[in-house]
Amino acid sequence: MGGPLSPVSLSAVLLLLSGGSCSGKDYVLTDVGGLGRVFDGIGGLSGGGATSRLLVNYEEPYRSQILDFLFKPNFGASLHILKVEIGGDAQTTDGTEPSHMHYENDENYFRGYEWWLMKEAKKRNPNITLIGLPWAFPGWVGRGKNWPYDHPDVTVSYVVNWILGAKQYHDLDIQYVGIWNERAFDAKYIKLLRYTLDKSGLDRVGIIASDDLWEPIALSLLLDPELSSSVDVIGAHYPGTRTVSQAVKTQKKLWASEDYSTFNDEVGGGCWARILNQNYVNGLMTSTISWNLVASYYEELPFGRDGLMTAQEPWSGNYVVESPIWITAHSTQFTQPGWTYLKTVGHLAQGGSYVALTDGRGNLTVVIETMTHDHSVCIRPPLPAYNLTSQNATFQLKGSFASIVELQVWRSQFQFKTKSSSFFQQLSPLKLVNGSFTLHLAEDEVYTLSTIRTGQKGSYPAPPPSARFPKAYKDDFNVRNPPFSEAPNFADQTGVFEYHVNLTDPGPHVFTLRQVVTQRPVTWASDADQTISVIGDHRWQNVTVTCDVLMEAVGTAGVFIAARVDKGGQSVRGAKGVFFWVFADGTYKVTTDLAGQTVLMEGKSGTGALAWYTVSLTVKGQSASGTLDGVALWNVAVTSSSKSGWAAVGTRAFELAQFDNFSVLAD
Ligand SMILES: *[C@@H]1O[C@H](CO)[C@@H](O)[C@H](O)[C@H]1NC(C)=O
Ligand SMILES: *[C@@H]1O[C@H](CO)[C@@H](O)[C@H](O)[C@H]1NC(C)=O
Ligand SMILES: *[C@@H]1O[C@H](CO)[C@@H](O)[C@H](O)[C@H]1NC(C)=O
Ligand SMILES: *[C@@H]1O[C@H](CO)[C@@H](O)[C@H](O)[C@H]1NC(C)=O
Ligand SMILES: *[C@@H]1O[C@H](CO)[C@@H](O)[C@H](O)[C@H]1NC(C)=O
Ligand SMILES: *[C@@H]1O[C@H](CO)[C@@H](O)[C@H](O)[C@H]1NC(C)=O
Ligand SMILES: *[C@@H]1O[C@H](CO)[C@@H](O)[C@H](O)[C@H]1NC(C)=O
Ligand SMILES: *[C@@H]1O[C@H](CO)[C@@H](O)[C@H](O)[C@H]1NC(C)=O
Repeated sequence: MGGPLSPVSLSAVLLLLSGGSCSGKDYVLTDVGGLGRVFDGIGGLSGGGATSRLLVNYEEPYRSQILDFLFKPNFGASLHILKVEIGGDAQTTDGTEPSHMHYENDENYFRGYEWWLMKEAKKRNPNITLIGLPWAFPGWVGRGKNWPYDHPDVTVSYVVNWILGAKQYHDLDIQYVGIWNERAFDAKYIKLLRYTLDKSGLDRVGIIASDDLWEPIALSLLLDPELSSSVDVIGAHYPGTRTVSQAVKTQKKLWASEDYSTFNDEVGGGCWARILNQNYVNGLMTSTISWNLVASYYEELPFGRDGLMTAQEPWSGNYVVESPIWITAHSTQFTQPGWTYLKTVGHLAQGGSYVALTDGRGNLTVVIETMTHDHSVCIRPPLPAYNLTSQNATFQLKGSFASIVELQVWRSQFQFKTKSSSFFQQLSPLKLVNGSFTLHLAEDEVYTLSTIRTGQKGSYPAPPPSARFPKAYKDDFNVRNPPFSEAPNFADQTGVFEYHVNLTDPGPHVFTLRQVVTQRPVTWASDADQTISVIGDHRWQNVTVTCDVLMEAVGTAGVFIAARVDKGGQSVRGAKGVFFWVFADGTYKVTTDLAGQTVLMEGKSGTGALAWYTVSLTVKGQSASGTLDGVALWNVAVTSSSKSGWAAVGTRAFELAQFDNFSVLAD
């Protein structure tokens, strides 16, 4: 962050030559001969999945500061678009997000944090474009199959309910809805979705298809006019700045509806700078959406820190405004959805690219990037090799822009070798001579030149320093943060763990945490066959985990507490650790895996369903022990377990169970 740099002190490095002729190349920017495509905005994606999980539990003022860096106009990323996951109770990369309909006869529009996030975004930018997309669906939607299209009417009404609920309960207008993230689409489903939206008074809601590759959706639209009239946007993921001719032929809007997914250090900002320009220059894409919005999940989960900024420590309040925030600002603060790209965009002679946009009322914004090959590598797909050198570039403004005499100048310079990058600095305005200006462009720079004067680099005092998860932590689930259905810091990896109130309980278990998913969802990833929610510090080795547990299902029901849980996300099935299980059939088990296959100990516990027990697990060095209601039950050597990991609670299968009075104490 740092203090604002004096614009004057930087003006010397900006080379301005009148008349235009010097040893560089000339680029004409004009609206003579028509304009290009309409710009639809730059956005961030919360979900796919649980990527904003830890954000919601930040204390004020830090939580609001983070939201300001993301959404507040003329402050930071100033995002135009917020896309969220329509929670489907299943693992969708970094966790599960709860559905608004766990069961067929159940509807609740206050679960999870996406509603809250959308409202916070809209509070800051009333014009923000909101998008919803499912990754997974509750099991009942698939009627027992891992497939949502056999009963399209069921899936359509499930999705339309979410859009109606957004309006009814939160006054949120969802502008676009997608089909099924990175999975097959079904033409019949899409047409029925369009028909049902229209019939429900939601004709303003556009459909994006199919949030996967350009094909086969593009060809399907060309061959099927009714499908084509149902779809507004072709959304492709990680297009590598390229489109395909069939997609262009559809005349639909083309979006990179999920892109970036790169570690958010300085180099990550380089990737983002390149794709924000070149998605239009190479691929005519008029919107780019970052996966993900903000890295607010335990860093050891898959794709740690792949967000525009990092906010993964609600316990300390620490957050980091990373380079992609300021790279976003270069475009978002000087354009709006509804502006139009000029046709005169392209590549620079010595590498890099430029785009130009206008509001059609005389305003002009030019964004230039000269990211070198090595410093703009996105995780996927690989970048073709090219060389880039410093260059002089002369821009000639013609047509409506010929009379512009001054442009505001903002610059970012990546200095990878010396680690002295500077981001989004305002320089002295550029005075144009005869509608022309020349820039000396070094490698790894981003420039914005604009008639818009409202750009601002927002800042707050430094947040508290980074800290590890507290070593002593407890939650009796009695104190609740009203907007949220989930307990702080618990990161569900299979199943959904929600606050539960049982007013008929005589106490002390009126307020508990309850696992509520009772059927395997229509999954997106390889959810475990058990349910599990992790919490704490992935480096923990020696801990005592204690929790009160209640099995609601009879027969073979079981619950566990665990330590040293090493994996989550899409790898959750393979999680190792030390798991202490008790079962409703009166037995217990100790395993080194979530799957329950590698058994260290087993025996009688006398446990049953519908009764509370206090279980405790201590793991220290190579030994582990467990107690039941305060009485020692077992101890065993754990030579083969994982070395370290989170604490966890969970159930033997998709079944109801409750947890209370959770505590963990680490060395
Ligand atoms: C600007 O253009 C006019 C008309 O073409 C020309 O006379 C003048 O010399 C130009 N000025 C500069 C500084 O190039
Ligand atoms: C929202 O859009 C309207 C119309 O384009 C514009 O006048 C207004 O300034 C925008 N508001 C914000 C906060 O950007
Ligand atoms: C540019 O945009 C500003 C702010 O929206 C507006 O006041 C102005 O009229 C526009 N046109 C020009 C030529 O600056
Ligand atoms: C980049 O420059 C090097 C050294 O001049 C040359 O060997 C290489 O072929 C160039 N690569 C490309 C893709 O132009
Ligand atoms: C850019 O122009 C300046 C001033 O004319 C000149 O000194 C420099 O060599 C040029 N740089 C390139 C890369 O052409
Ligand atoms: C609520 O508490 C009562 C009394 O302890 C118990 O019988 C019942 O099973 C509980 N129900 C739920 C859903 O927790
Ligand atoms: C865990 O306990 C073992 C045995 O006491 C000890 O050797 C090890 O250093 C401890 N680990 C940590 C991280 O404290
Ligand atoms: C919760 O556990 C603590 C010990 O960890 C114990 O002192 C307390 O009484 C328990 N509370 C309830 C409600 O069981």
